[in-house]
Amino acid sequence: MNILILGSGGREHALAWAVMQNPKCDKLIVCPGNAGIAQIAECASFDIMDGGAVANFAEENAIDFVIVGPEAPLAVGVADRLRDAGVLVFGPSEAAARLEASKAFTKEICDAANAPTAGYGHFTDAEAAKAHVRSTGAPIVVKADGLAAGKGVIIAMDEATALEAIDDMFGGAFGGAGAEVVIEEFMEGEEASLFVLVDGEDVLPIGTAQDHKRVGEGDTGPNTGGMGAYSPAPVLSPEIEAKAMDEIVKPTMKAMADRGMPYQGVLYAGLMIKDGQPRLVEYNVRFGDPECQVLMMRLGAQALDLMHAAAEGRLSEARVNWADDHAITVVMAANGYPGSYEKGTEIKGLDALPEDSMNMVFHAGTTEAQGSILAAGGRVLNVTARGTSLQEARDRAYAMVDAIDWPDGFFRRDIGWRAL
Ligand code: AMP
Ligand code: GLY
Repeated sequence: MNILILGSGGREHALAWAVMQNPKCDKLIVCPGNAGIAQIAECASFDIMDGGAVANFAEENAIDFVIVGPEAPLAVGVADRLRDAGVLVFGPSEAAARLEASKAFTKEICDAANAPTAGYGHFTDAEAAKAHVRSTGAPIVVKADGLAAGKGVIIAMDEATALEAIDDMFGGAFGGAGAEVVIEEFMEGEEASLFVLVDGEDVLPIGTAQDHKRVGEGDTGPNTGGMGAYSPAPVLSPEIEAKAMDEIVKPTMKAMADRGMPYQGVLYAGLMIKDGQPRLVEYNVRFGDPECQVLMMRLGAQALDLMHAAAEGRLSEARVNWADDHAITVVMAANGYPGSYEKGTEIKGLDALPEDSMNMVFHAGTTEAQGSILAAGGRVLNVTARGTSLQEARDRAYAMVDAIDWPDGFFRRDIGWRAL
């Protein structure tokens, strides 16, 4: 099989690494890729937001299967263009990608499916939104409806913060994403993520994970894309996972199919768990980043067979071959992230690290120049290890982190603390 992966982050490096281990992969191209991906696959350069360009590239390069990493191309219909051109693709249609691209749409589907989630109101007018906040009180959650790169959610612990957030959103702070606002009940509990493959009809859970969103140790400071993750998530016990599948995932997937927009791809369910009951926080229509890195570390080569089965509508015959293992990833980020940071600083010591089925450094934002690896983004490396216990995996991951010589980067020393 000739395979094309779209994307350039640690998620896509992990996907490429897993896919390459499967003997069914004859050739792998990643667009645009990064310096780590370039060490294991061919990298191409075209606009992954342009469905026509992606379809042309796939046809010219005899691509048999396309895996879409990030949500942005899905939200503009790149998977639809590929399907129109007869190319097999892993990833939902533009219509189904609204499960991530519109929070109001997701709430409506949850209502139709009777899936447990936060109570909410949906507003296109600031005054009505404010009246809702005044009548409900704080804490309360204010969300821009559309895609806002993870920044469109304000958890307001007091009313004034909520009112200010409403003004900001309708004032254009999140561009078009804030033209509509969803206001939600604040849910308490512990958050965890459940990853499920869906082929339009059947569903197959492929793992659980928890990430650390805050930049600082002890889960403090501003939010980031994620400073580390581990899998499995102990809070998602088999019983709670089964509840989440039966009460949330299966009914919402059925509601999507009933509306003529069957979902195909990976569904990332962000859950809030309290007193044994999961409730949906949000859906994403892609793998989490960095959660994908720990899932791929655990699944290895079978990840390709599973994604391929989802794309071909064969999930009912697919099985996950589970090992009783744990994986963890520690993000190394450029000093200053998630604020402003320098690019182009050199990272040394990577060549001496092990690269095997238990230890991998996945690259997120890197480039290569004259044989050196340079930082090229905020989140730069995902130092990932697998073990028979979380503690063992964690010890090995931090041993690798400590062997990396990058004075311009930082990381959190406490990834996995909640699970340990
Ligand atoms: P979202 O982009 O909707 O996942 O929101 C980002 C983060 O905000 C989530 O991962 C939660 O930590 C938090 N969050 C979102 N909605 C709620 C809610 N209704 N109650 C409590 N926390 C929430
Ligand atoms: N790590 C969170 C996300 O990918 O959305």
